Amino acid sequence: MEAKVDAIIGKYESNKGFLVPILQDVQKEFNYLPREALLAVSKLLEVPLSRIFEIATFYKAFSLTPRGRHLLSLCLGTACHVRGAPLIQDNVERALEIKAGETTEVLEFTCETVNCLGACALGPILVVDEEYQGQVTLAKANKILKKLGKKVVTDEEED
Ligand code: FES
Repeated sequence: MEAKVDAIIGKYESNKGFLVPILQDVQKEFNYLPREALLAVSKLLEVPLSRIFEIATFYKAFSLTPRGRHLLSLCLGTACHVRGAPLIQDNVERALEIKAGETTEVLEFTCETVNCLGACALGPILVVDEEYQGQVTLAKANKILKKLGKKVVTDEEED
């Protein structure tokens, strides 16, 4: 693990000023921020581990627990909420058999809820593996889930 972290840090010429992008690359590599990798970052960059944890816990994009290969983030901000996001959440949770904030046992899916993503006019918003899906209906959510290989509760299809 340290060799991979070392290679990432090397890309940034061991510049401590790039701590956030370094952590982003570490997360991309391991799909989350393993403690061992953070220890390696701390050692190689000579940055206190407490500072690294401060950043890792400040930004919601970072995860200190293993995440699934696919990340589904559903916006539950006010605009998305009134446009039916809770129904979509319920549907997604049933299809994945996990609750928001959880990851499937085989690390295939992680489902989370987020607050306003700044695209309220297009709500409800579901971000699937960093790709924004707007005006998500139950049918559209089902189509997305089917595409990801999940059996859905209803078999509504998008027009
Ligand atoms: S409330 Fe969902 S994008 Fe703003």
